[in-house]
Amino acid sequence: MDRMKDKICVVTGGARGIGRAIVDRFAGEGAKMVFAIDVNPAAFPELEAGRTNVRGASVNVTDTEGVKAFVDSVVAEFGRIDALVNNAGITRDALIQKMSDDDWAAVIAVNLTGVFKMTRAIAPTMMAQGTGTVVSIASVVGLDGNIGQSNYEAAKGGIVAMTKGWAKEFARKGAKVRVNSVSPGYCRTPMLETVPEKVLEPIIAKTPLGRLAMPIDIANAVLFLSNDESAFVTGQVLRVDGGLVL
Ligand SMILES: NC(=O)c1ccc[n+]([C@@H]2O[C@H](COP(=O)([O-])OP(=O)(O)OC[C@H]3O[C@@H](n4cnc5c(N)ncnc54)[C@H](O)[C@@H]3O)[C@@H](O)[C@H]2O)c1
Repeated sequence: MDRMKDKICVVTGGARGIGRAIVDRFAGEGAKMVFAIDVNPAAFPELEAGRTNVRGASVNVTDTEGVKAFVDSVVAEFGRIDALVNNAGITRDALIQKMSDDDWAAVIAVNLTGVFKMTRAIAPTMMAQGTGTVVSIASVVGLDGNIGQSNYEAAKGGIVAMTKGWAKEFARKGAKVRVNSVSPGYCRTPMLETVPEKVLEPIIAKTPLGRLAMPIDIANAVLFLSNDESAFVTGQVLRVDGGLVL
Protein backbone atom coordinates (compact mmCIF):
# COMPACT_ATOMS: atom_id res chain seq x y z
CA MET A 1 0.00 0.00 0.00
CA ASP A 2 2.93 2.39 0.34
CA ARG A 3 5.32 1.50 -2.44
CA MET A 4 5.06 5.04 -3.88
CA LYS A 5 4.95 6.72 -0.47
CA ASP A 6 5.68 10.47 -0.62
CA LYS A 7 6.61 10.34 -4.30
CA ILE A 8 5.74 13.06 -6.81
CA CYS A 9 4.71 11.32 -10.02
CA VAL A 10 3.92 12.39 -13.58
CA VAL A 11 1.98 10.09 -15.92
CA THR A 12 1.40 11.24 -19.51
CA GLY A 13 -1.83 10.16 -21.18
CA GLY A 14 -3.19 9.56 -17.68
CA ALA A 15 -6.86 10.25 -18.44
CA ARG A 16 -7.83 6.80 -19.68
CA GLY A 17 -6.65 3.32 -20.62
CA ILE A 18 -3.25 2.16 -19.42
CA GLY A 19 -2.30 5.64 -18.16
CA ARG A 20 -5.41 5.80 -15.98
CA ALA A 21 -4.56 2.39 -14.47
CA ILE A 22 -1.04 3.63 -13.68
CA VAL A 23 -2.41 6.79 -12.05
CA ASP A 24 -4.78 4.68 -9.92
CA ARG A 25 -2.01 2.26 -8.94
CA PHE A 26 0.44 5.03 -7.93
CA ALA A 27 -2.24 6.93 -6.01
CA GLY A 28 -3.31 3.76 -4.19
CA GLU A 29 0.31 3.06 -3.23
CA GLY A 30 0.63 6.26 -1.24
CA ALA A 31 2.06 8.71 -3.78
CA LYS A 32 2.08 12.25 -2.47
CA MET A 33 0.83 13.55 -5.82
CA VAL A 34 0.18 11.94 -9.19
CA PHE A 35 -0.15 14.36 -12.09
CA ALA A 36 -2.15 12.94 -14.98
CA ILE A 37 -1.06 14.87 -18.05
CA ASP A 38 -3.51 14.69 -20.93
CA VAL A 39 -5.07 16.54 -23.87
CA ASN A 40 -8.52 15.43 -22.66
CA PRO A 41 -9.27 17.58 -19.60
CA ALA A 42 -12.95 16.52 -19.66
CA ALA A 43 -11.81 13.35 -17.89
CA PHE A 44 -10.11 15.19 -15.01
CA PRO A 45 -13.07 15.77 -12.62
CA GLU A 46 -13.83 12.04 -12.51
CA LEU A 47 -10.11 11.22 -12.25
CA GLU A 48 -9.64 13.53 -9.26
CA ALA A 49 -12.92 12.74 -7.51
CA GLY A 50 -12.64 11.45 -3.94
CA ARG A 51 -8.86 11.68 -3.66
CA THR A 52 -6.44 14.46 -2.88
CA ASN A 53 -3.32 12.97 -4.45
CA VAL A 54 -4.38 12.97 -8.11
CA ARG A 55 -4.43 16.07 -10.27
CA GLY A 56 -5.16 16.42 -13.97
CA ALA A 57 -2.92 18.71 -16.00
CA SER A 58 -3.89 19.88 -19.45
CA VAL A 59 -0.60 19.53 -21.29
CA ASN A 60 0.21 18.27 -24.77
CA VAL A 61 3.46 16.28 -24.71
CA THR A 62 4.36 17.72 -28.13
CA ASP A 63 4.30 21.31 -26.80
CA THR A 64 7.84 22.24 -25.73
CA GLU A 65 6.80 25.39 -23.86
CA GLY A 66 3.76 23.78 -22.25
CA VAL A 67 5.84 20.84 -21.02
CA LYS A 68 8.48 23.17 -19.60
CA ALA A 69 5.91 25.38 -17.87
CA PHE A 70 4.25 22.30 -16.33
CA VAL A 71 7.54 20.88 -15.03
CA ASP A 72 8.55 24.29 -13.62
CA SER A 73 5.22 24.55 -11.79
CA VAL A 74 5.56 21.08 -10.23
CA VAL A 75 9.12 21.79 -9.09
CA ALA A 76 8.05 25.18 -7.71
CA GLU A 77 5.25 23.55 -5.69
CA PHE A 78 6.86 20.28 -4.56
CA GLY A 79 10.60 20.79 -5.09
CA ARG A 80 11.08 17.41 -6.75
CA ILE A 81 9.81 14.84 -9.25
CA ASP A 82 10.39 11.18 -8.44
CA ALA A 83 8.66 9.19 -11.18
CA LEU A 84 7.92 9.93 -14.83
CA VAL A 85 5.83 7.56 -16.93
CA ASN A 86 5.84 8.30 -20.65
CA ASN A 87 2.58 6.64 -21.62
CA ALA A 88 0.75 9.02 -24.00
CA GLY A 89 0.44 7.51 -27.44
CA ILE A 90 -1.67 7.47 -30.58
CA THR A 91 -2.03 5.33 -33.70
CA ARG A 92 -2.53 6.30 -37.36
CA ASP A 93 -2.23 2.95 -39.11
CA ALA A 94 -1.87 2.45 -42.86
CA LEU A 95 0.12 0.29 -45.24
CA ILE A 96 3.29 2.15 -46.19
CA GLN A 97 2.11 3.18 -49.67
CA LYS A 98 -1.01 4.74 -48.12
CA MET A 99 0.61 6.31 -45.06
CA SER A 100 0.55 10.11 -45.46
CA ASP A 101 3.24 12.47 -44.25
CA ASP A 102 0.70 13.70 -41.68
CA ASP A 103 0.08 10.14 -40.37
CA TRP A 104 3.81 9.64 -40.04
CA ALA A 105 4.49 13.01 -38.40
CA ALA A 106 1.57 12.85 -35.95
CA VAL A 107 2.60 9.52 -34.46
CA ILE A 108 6.29 10.40 -34.33
CA ALA A 109 5.44 13.74 -32.67
CA VAL A 110 3.44 12.21 -29.81
CA ASN A 111 4.92 8.72 -29.38
CA LEU A 112 8.61 9.52 -29.90
CA THR A 113 9.27 13.27 -29.73
CA GLY A 114 6.78 13.63 -26.85
CA VAL A 115 8.74 11.08 -24.84
CA PHE A 116 11.95 12.97 -25.62
CA LYS A 117 10.44 16.34 -24.63
CA MET A 118 8.97 15.13 -21.34
CA THR A 119 12.16 13.34 -20.34
CA ARG A 120 14.33 16.27 -21.40
CA ALA A 121 12.27 18.58 -19.21
CA ILE A 122 12.28 16.36 -16.10
CA ALA A 123 15.70 14.69 -16.24
CA PRO A 124 17.67 17.70 -14.89
CA THR A 125 15.50 17.73 -11.75
CA MET A 126 16.07 14.01 -11.22
CA MET A 127 19.80 14.34 -11.92
CA ALA A 128 20.05 17.13 -9.34
CA GLN A 129 18.16 14.98 -6.81
CA GLY A 130 20.38 12.02 -7.68
CA THR A 131 17.31 9.76 -7.79
CA GLY A 132 14.24 9.17 -9.91
CA THR A 133 12.69 6.75 -12.36
CA VAL A 134 11.60 7.06 -15.96
CA VAL A 135 9.41 4.34 -17.45
CA SER A 136 8.29 4.64 -21.07
CA ILE A 137 5.57 2.51 -22.63
CA ALA A 138 6.86 0.83 -25.78
CA SER A 139 5.01 -1.99 -27.55
CA VAL A 140 5.38 -5.49 -28.88
CA VAL A 141 5.14 -3.69 -32.25
CA GLY A 142 8.32 -1.73 -31.51
CA LEU A 143 10.23 -4.94 -30.84
CA ASP A 144 8.74 -7.28 -33.41
CA GLY A 145 7.10 -5.05 -36.07
CA ASN A 146 3.58 -5.17 -37.50
CA ILE A 147 1.92 -4.68 -40.87
CA GLY A 148 0.59 -1.14 -41.39
CA GLN A 149 2.37 0.49 -38.46
CA SER A 150 5.59 2.02 -39.88
CA ASN A 151 5.12 5.21 -37.86
CA TYR A 152 4.20 3.43 -34.63
CA GLU A 153 6.95 0.80 -34.79
CA ALA A 154 9.55 3.49 -35.57
CA ALA A 155 8.44 5.47 -32.52
CA LYS A 156 8.28 2.47 -30.19
CA GLY A 157 11.61 1.11 -31.40
CA GLY A 158 13.04 4.57 -30.76
CA ILE A 159 11.77 4.43 -27.19
CA VAL A 160 13.62 1.15 -26.63
CA ALA A 161 16.85 2.66 -27.96
CA MET A 162 16.47 5.88 -25.94
CA THR A 163 15.77 3.84 -22.80
CA LYS A 164 19.16 2.15 -23.13
CA GLY A 165 21.00 5.38 -23.87
CA TRP A 166 19.31 7.26 -21.04
CA ALA A 167 20.02 4.44 -18.57
CA LYS A 168 23.71 5.17 -19.17
CA GLU A 169 23.40 8.96 -19.45
CA PHE A 170 21.31 9.38 -16.27
CA ALA A 171 23.61 7.28 -14.10
CA ARG A 172 26.59 9.59 -14.44
CA LYS A 173 28.12 11.88 -11.83
CA GLY A 174 26.87 9.76 -8.95
CA ALA A 175 23.21 9.99 -9.95
CA LYS A 176 21.09 6.84 -9.74
CA VAL A 177 18.25 7.80 -12.04
CA ARG A 178 16.85 4.58 -13.50
CA VAL A 179 15.30 4.34 -16.95
CA ASN A 180 13.25 1.39 -18.15
CA SER A 181 10.54 0.53 -20.63
CA VAL A 182 7.47 -1.69 -20.55
CA SER A 183 6.41 -3.41 -23.76
CA PRO A 184 2.73 -4.35 -23.58
CA GLY A 185 1.11 -6.88 -25.83
CA TYR A 186 -2.35 -5.98 -27.14
CA CYS A 187 -4.26 -4.49 -24.24
CA ARG A 188 -7.99 -3.89 -23.72
CA THR A 189 -8.20 -0.07 -23.80
CA PRO A 190 -10.05 2.49 -25.94
CA MET A 191 -7.03 2.45 -28.31
CA LEU A 192 -7.87 -1.15 -29.21
CA GLU A 193 -11.56 -0.48 -29.88
CA THR A 194 -10.87 0.14 -33.58
CA VAL A 195 -9.25 -3.29 -33.97
CA PRO A 196 -11.84 -5.91 -35.01
CA GLU A 197 -12.27 -8.99 -32.80
CA LYS A 198 -11.42 -11.18 -35.82
CA VAL A 199 -7.93 -9.63 -35.79
CA LEU A 200 -7.58 -10.10 -32.03
CA GLU A 201 -8.74 -13.74 -31.90
CA PRO A 202 -5.62 -15.20 -33.59
CA ILE A 203 -3.43 -13.06 -31.32
CA ILE A 204 -5.17 -14.51 -28.25
CA ALA A 205 -4.80 -17.99 -29.74
CA LYS A 206 -1.01 -17.44 -30.13
CA THR A 207 -0.63 -16.12 -26.58
CA PRO A 208 0.46 -18.84 -24.12
CA LEU A 209 -1.50 -17.21 -21.28
CA GLY A 210 -4.60 -17.18 -23.51
CA ARG A 211 -5.90 -13.62 -23.24
CA LEU A 212 -5.15 -9.99 -24.03
CA ALA A 213 -3.48 -7.72 -21.47
CA MET A 214 -5.62 -5.65 -19.14
CA PRO A 215 -4.48 -2.14 -18.12
CA ILE A 216 -3.76 -3.34 -14.58
CA ASP A 217 -1.23 -5.87 -15.95
CA ILE A 218 0.78 -3.02 -17.47
CA ALA A 219 0.30 -0.76 -14.44
CA ASN A 220 1.70 -3.45 -12.13
CA ALA A 221 4.86 -3.71 -14.23
CA VAL A 222 5.24 0.09 -14.27
CA LEU A 223 4.77 0.17 -10.49
CA PHE A 224 7.57 -2.37 -10.06
CA LEU A 225 9.94 -0.34 -12.24
CA SER A 226 9.01 2.94 -10.47
CA ASN A 227 9.87 1.99 -6.89
CA ASP A 228 12.83 0.59 -4.98
CA GLU A 229 11.81 -3.05 -5.50
CA SER A 230 13.60 -2.65 -8.86
CA ALA A 231 16.52 -0.66 -7.41
CA PHE A 232 19.13 -2.57 -9.48
CA VAL A 233 17.18 -2.64 -12.75
CA THR A 234 17.93 -0.07 -15.45
CA GLY A 235 17.99 0.05 -19.25
CA GLN A 236 15.56 -2.84 -19.56
CA VAL A 237 12.49 -3.55 -21.67
CA LEU A 238 9.99 -5.61 -19.70
CA ARG A 239 7.61 -7.49 -21.97
CA VAL A 240 4.10 -7.80 -20.53
CA ASP A 241 2.41 -9.79 -23.29
CA GLY A 242 1.41 -13.14 -21.82
CA GLY A 243 4.30 -14.78 -23.67
CA LEU A 244 3.07 -13.68 -27.13
CA VAL A 245 6.67 -13.41 -28.35
CA LEU A 246 9.25 -15.78 -26.90
N1 LIG B 1 -3.71 -0.77 -26.04
C1 LIG B 1 -2.76 -1.53 -26.55
O1 LIG B 1 -3.01 -2.59 -27.10
C2 LIG B 1 -1.31 -1.10 -26.43
C3 LIG B 1 -0.33 -2.06 -26.73
C4 LIG B 1 1.00 -1.70 -26.63
C5 LIG B 1 1.35 -0.41 -26.26
N2 LIG B 1 0.38 0.50 -25.98
C6 LIG B 1 0.81 1.85 -25.61
O2 LIG B 1 0.33 2.14 -24.32
C7 LIG B 1 0.12 3.54 -24.19
C8 LIG B 1 -1.28 3.83 -23.71
O3 LIG B 1 -2.18 3.28 -24.65
P1 LIG B 1 -3.75 3.11 -24.38
O4 LIG B 1 -4.15 1.87 -25.05
O5 LIG B 1 -4.06 3.31 -22.94
O6 LIG B 1 -4.29 4.34 -25.25
P2 LIG B 1 -5.58 5.27 -25.08
O7 LIG B 1 -5.84 5.83 -26.42
O8 LIG B 1 -6.68 4.53 -24.40
O9 LIG B 1 -5.07 6.42 -24.08
C9 LIG B 1 -4.04 7.31 -24.47
C10 LIG B 1 -4.17 8.58 -23.68
O10 LIG B 1 -3.13 9.47 -24.14
C11 LIG B 1 -3.68 10.77 -24.30
N3 LIG B 1 -2.89 11.51 -25.28
C12 LIG B 1 -2.87 11.33 -26.63
N4 LIG B 1 -2.07 12.25 -27.21
C13 LIG B 1 -1.57 13.02 -26.20
C14 LIG B 1 -0.68 14.13 -26.17
N5 LIG B 1 -0.17 14.64 -27.31
N6 LIG B 1 -0.38 14.67 -24.97
C15 LIG B 1 -0.91 14.18 -23.82
N7 LIG B 1 -1.76 13.13 -23.79
C16 LIG B 1 -2.08 12.56 -24.97
C17 LIG B 1 -5.11 10.50 -24.78
O11 LIG B 1 -5.95 11.64 -24.61
C18 LIG B 1 -5.51 9.32 -23.91
O12 LIG B 1 -6.06 9.73 -22.68
C19 LIG B 1 0.43 4.15 -25.57
O13 LIG B 1 1.77 4.63 -25.59
C20 LIG B 1 0.29 2.96 -26.48
O14 LIG B 1 1.05 3.11 -27.67
C21 LIG B 1 -0.94 0.19 -26.05
